[in-house]
Amino acid sequence: MCGIFGYVGKVDVGQTLVTGIRRLEYRGYDSWGVAIGGDDGLTLFRRVGRVSQVDEPFKLAAAKSWGGIAHTRWATHGEPAERNAHPHMDGAARFAIVHNGIIENHAVLRDRLRAQGCVFQGETDSEVIVHLIASLYDGRDPRAAFVGALRLLRGAYAVAMICADAPGTIFIARDSSPIVIGRADGCAVVASDPCAIVPFTRDGIYLADGEVCALREDGYRIWNLKDEPVEGVVQKLAYDLESVERGTFKHFMLKEIYEQPRTIRDAMRGRLARGSGTTRVDGLGLTEADIRRIRSIRILGCGTSWHAGLVGRYLIEEMARIPTVVEYAAEFRYAARVLEPDTLVIALSQSGETADTLGALREAKRLGATVVGLCNVVGSGIARECGRGLYLRSGPEIGVASTKAFTSQLVVLALLALHFGRVRGMSLADGVRFLDALEALPDQAEQILGNTDAIAEMGRLVAGHRNALYVGRLYEYPLALEGALKLKEISYIHAEGLPAAELKHGPIALVDKDMPVVTLAAQTGAFEKMKSNIEEIRARGGRILAVCREGSEDLRSMAERVICIPPTLDPFVPILGALPLQLMAYYAAVERGCDVDRPRNLAKSVTVE
Ligand code: M6R
Repeated sequence: MCGIFGYVGKVDVGQTLVTGIRRLEYRGYDSWGVAIGGDDGLTLFRRVGRVSQVDEPFKLAAAKSWGGIAHTRWATHGEPAERNAHPHMDGAARFAIVHNGIIENHAVLRDRLRAQGCVFQGETDSEVIVHLIASLYDGRDPRAAFVGALRLLRGAYAVAMICADAPGTIFIARDSSPIVIGRADGCAVVASDPCAIVPFTRDGIYLADGEVCALREDGYRIWNLKDEPVEGVVQKLAYDLESVERGTFKHFMLKEIYEQPRTIRDAMRGRLARGSGTTRVDGLGLTEADIRRIRSIRILGCGTSWHAGLVGRYLIEEMARIPTVVEYAAEFRYAARVLEPDTLVIALSQSGETADTLGALREAKRLGATVVGLCNVVGSGIARECGRGLYLRSGPEIGVASTKAFTSQLVVLALLALHFGRVRGMSLADGVRFLDALEALPDQAEQILGNTDAIAEMGRLVAGHRNALYVGRLYEYPLALEGALKLKEISYIHAEGLPAAELKHGPIALVDKDMPVVTLAAQTGAFEKMKSNIEEIRARGGRILAVCREGSEDLRSMAERVICIPPTLDPFVPILGALPLQLMAYYAAVERGCDVDRPRNLAKSVTVE
């Protein structure tokens, strides 16, 4: 949930570090810091708040330096404060480290180091790393001290270290938290996320778990924890600069919402087999016999990914008739679950880094399940742990609120459900019907985004309220949950998503003239029932904001505001219906003056439990 950036080279070291870490600010942004290595040893700058301009002493230190490391933080252990911001230094200012992840045995290590006379500045788990390294240093071999310390750590880490006695080198290590290095003309860079590397080079080397690297301007060496040399594998980084810049959009979230016609298309590209009315999902590594053998499916995820999983359940049960359960990853992980034989577990994650999902996945493997991952970030921890699955192909998602990754998850789940359905008895005609509807989605998404005035107006209307309800049935129930989550996350308006039929069993008590109720009524199958629910809400004075399909004009007389989306098959309604809900939340947040891309208390990837 934090960002690491490091640079060795000659070009304005201070500015390069600040620019690099700003690119990663979406991962965490309550404090930041930089450690610079130069002729006079190491110099440290730490600040609370967003990455800001640097002051004179910083510029002076940077002018005489060979490189440095930088960090942007999302607090887990210890409040956001300068003393808790990274980099952390040892008492002699010989070592500086930045860390992503969690050191689980930090309390034991802290006690041991304190007993040796170590003075801690803050409360973070990360600070133990630097004191541990210093305590193991023999004055000659910083790498040996680094490796020695890593061997004592329990938990997850990506760490970068500089040492006053090793000018020109950044030492890096990884266990469970991603880190990538790259080299370009006259410089070398390291970052926790490729988006900070691509301005320098498209060739990156991801460290694997247990690997340690010494990175210099003119090259790098990699070892495993047994100190054996390892060959780094150079990979093309699938990021282009445009995808990590905001361009003319005011916010990344808005840009990412508008990318959806393309990302929906990309999620399907090359995966539709029209002639046979099915899809190509070879990445799952499941033969037709394997698919026929599946007795149940368990989908695991968190937040928006969990909502996508709920839609996935409806898709799989309708198309493939396989009993499916969707669970919050953290609940699955610790609940002593029982999996029946031949259960397929699907891990859903945009980042592929979410600690709860990764942990749940490992538990599912321990229980003997076959696991597949549907992730966006290529080479991420969850993708690697599964070893097979399908990538979402939505490109980097920088806005903290997930948007385009959600619709891509729905598309990929639909491809999986359709393929399983065809293997398990769905007719060719039905297969083709679903494929036709899928193929129409990108243009339909374009159409929605071509006329957003009514959506913006609806967002501004909601902005004036303290609460909102979202209701829907069947495929639009998870969509109601997702719409409510989007609103909460970025506008801080309290919102709840509900199955529309549940309203009358309690929550309808909340409805009065101050309660906007976003009613999702774009499915044909649930339309008449939704009309009855709308009447119930109207009878209690609630303000109806309806999302329906083109042609349902009779809703205009029942609702205060109506947004129409193009007609599609009911299973794909959430894909189109997500767009107006995302935009509505966006405009509500803008109206309330909220920081859309960096909502309070949140971070993009949640790599802690
Ligand atoms: O990267 P993941 O999909 O595993 O992340 C799961 C959730 O943390 C994430 O969806 C979160 O709920 C977002 N902030 C939603 O907008």
